Amino acid sequence: MRYGGGRRRRMLLQPFLVLCATVTGVGLLMLALRPLDPQISVKYARDYDFIDSNTSAFDVGWAVEEKPPPTAKPCATVEEMGKDFESGFVVKETLRVRSIIEKHFVLNGASRVRDLPPDEFCNHGFVLGKTAEAGFGNEMYKILSAAALSIMLNRSLIIGQTRSKYPFEEYISYPNFTFTMKEIKHLWRQNGCESKYGRRLVMRTDDFEKPSHTNVLCSNWKEWEQPIIWFQGTNDAVASQFFLKNVHSQMRIAAFDLFGDPQVLGSQPNVFGELMRVLISPSPDVEAAVNWVIDGKENPDISLHMRMQINRPVRAVQAALHCLRKAVESRHLMSRPKVVVVSDTPSLIKSIVPNISEFAEVLHFDYEKYKGKMFDGLPKSDFREKDWGPAPRWVAFVDFFLASRARHGVVSVAHRRVGTTYAQLIAALAAAHNLADNNNNNNNTTSGSSFSFFSSFQSNLLTDGLKNQVGWGHVWNRYAGPLSCSNQSNQCAFTPLLPPAWWDGLWQSPIPRDTKRLAFYGVQLSGFGNVDTYSLQNYCNSRKTIVKTLTFNL
Ligand SMILES: *[C@@H]1O[C@H](CO)[C@@H](O)[C@H](O)[C@H]1NC(C)=O
Ligand SMILES: *[C@@H]1O[C@H](CO)[C@@H](O)[C@H](O)[C@H]1NC(C)=O
Ligand SMILES: *[C@@H]1O[C@H](CO)[C@@H](O)[C@H](O)[C@H]1NC(C)=O
Ligand SMILES: *[C@@H]1O[C@H](CO)[C@@H](O)[C@H](O)[C@H]1NC(C)=O
Ligand SMILES: *[C@@H]1O[C@H](CO)[C@@H](O)[C@H](O)[C@H]1NC(C)=O
Ligand SMILES: *[C@@H]1O[C@H](CO)[C@@H](O)[C@H](O)[C@H]1NC(C)=O
Ligand SMILES: *[C@@H]1O[C@H](CO)[C@@H](O)[C@H](O)[C@H]1NC(C)=O
Repeated sequence: MRYGGGRRRRMLLQPFLVLCATVTGVGLLMLALRPLDPQISVKYARDYDFIDSNTSAFDVGWAVEEKPPPTAKPCATVEEMGKDFESGFVVKETLRVRSIIEKHFVLNGASRVRDLPPDEFCNHGFVLGKTAEAGFGNEMYKILSAAALSIMLNRSLIIGQTRSKYPFEEYISYPNFTFTMKEIKHLWRQNGCESKYGRRLVMRTDDFEKPSHTNVLCSNWKEWEQPIIWFQGTNDAVASQFFLKNVHSQMRIAAFDLFGDPQVLGSQPNVFGELMRVLISPSPDVEAAVNWVIDGKENPDISLHMRMQINRPVRAVQAALHCLRKAVESRHLMSRPKVVVVSDTPSLIKSIVPNISEFAEVLHFDYEKYKGKMFDGLPKSDFREKDWGPAPRWVAFVDFFLASRARHGVVSVAHRRVGTTYAQLIAALAAAHNLADNNNNNNNTTSGSSFSFFSSFQSNLLTDGLKNQVGWGHVWNRYAGPLSCSNQSNQCAFTPLLPPAWWDGLWQSPIPRDTKRLAFYGVQLSGFGNVDTYSLQNYCNSRKTIVKTLTFNL
């Protein structure tokens, strides 16, 4: 299998890369060694004038010969960067991934695996998804990353419990095709895996947040023999996509199958949305609260998520209103569409509702008026007020599932960093629902652009371009480098549903902080974020493999 044939070749910017021409010879050699790594390509920007090419990955090196055009733009605005995510040709890819996910959980689901004959069961592999109960977005990504890894490795998924409770158990239900550790231990004993087959219940752990320890880039995880694998610290969309650059082709193929080719932006399937679609559902109490807001009517058209951290800057509100209007227009919605507003800053909702009401019907969950049964006894506020706002914590779950009902789009607004994990997951889940609805209710399955994710940036966030979108959990982080223009006006940009993990796209470039951080993983990034696969291979060759395990005593 080769990725690269038929790819739109991105011709990218800048005289700087003439330098890279010298790398061509080496690059071709590397390509020959690793056909799956087309990132050796040298890129020039020709404004938006992409050159289509049906050449294979092996041809990529020749791009070097071309002269950068005199009109090359040195930088792009967020809206220009978002153009890749405007058109909806992700549908086909997403449906492909949906089917991979469904097949995976049938094949590796608990109902089949728990009945395997002992010799097969004792040789079966598992991946553990474990969370602490901190910020919802980050913790949910840990479970989703484990699910993604279980697919890449063809193992079954365990959802980790804490004191016999599932993560966010009061608010979220998990499907019966997942395992718990308790059941695995029980089955391990029952099948005599240790006594008859000499297989101890060992878990190999790998911590993504320890760059010099993790094997995410250097090891072939498919060869790991430990019954359970726990990939720790995977609290964003980036961690599991690191396998896209793993030095072993087997791992890269598995990652490409799931996440798509990072070079062809706009073609990435909605992996995390599809995973959530099957892995989580609101608890009955949360669902009742959501339905109370919807009140038996149509689901909302658009969701507006405002993470303001108690701030109410006028400029952010203006930009948000503009973006909301753009979302309504771009989706060709009828007069007075329905907009759901969710925010960590309830006072903001009160002040913005009159303005939105000028052109839309506004819904929001007014928890003080809701008298659902479960919520009486729960603490009003708790330790993560910074993340969750002053409303009681369970409101964030109602808001999450309410906002993910949006049929046409999600708009993300923030005081500082736009496209938080929470907003990403709302958009991803809503898009997945929307695709399901499309499939079930009509024949418009090819109209992929029926759902969009927007980022609203007020101009003061863009004084230094996207440079302040630090943090791998933020969707624009991979665009934060020198290719992002300074002093932009307000922006309302189409946004990827799958936050990118690498810098392979036309306008992606790293900030120095990330270049440094990647160096700890053994990755040398060029100024525009290309990975030097040759030095990564050397790094992996020279590095001692760290194996950390934990044995369960049954
Ligand atoms: C690429 O191939 C497709 C089908 O094989 C063809 O329709 C298209 O015109 C080709 N594009 C170029 C630029 O050669
Ligand atoms: C995945 O594992 C199942 C057994 O659980 C096996 O039948 C199947 O061939 C494996 N698939 C791949 C692609 O390795
Ligand atoms: C698992 O759940 C599905 C629906 O969620 C149900 O149809 C099925 O019977 C359940 N299977 C088992 C083994 O409980
Ligand atoms: C919102 O509406 C109020 C009163 O209707 C108005 O004073 C304010 O300027 C509006 N805000 C924005 C950002 O348009
Ligand atoms: C399918 O899409 C077209 C145009 O996008 C729309 O007019 C039509 O109503 C849709 N059909 C259904 C059944 O939703
Ligand atoms: C959708 O397609 C099916 C067959 O694939 C057809 O029977 C049905 O009438 C179509 N529905 C609409 C609304 O076009
Ligand atoms: C951005 O605006 C500031 C203040 O208006 C100015 O000093 C700076 O030169 C501008 N930067 C660019 C790249 O235009």
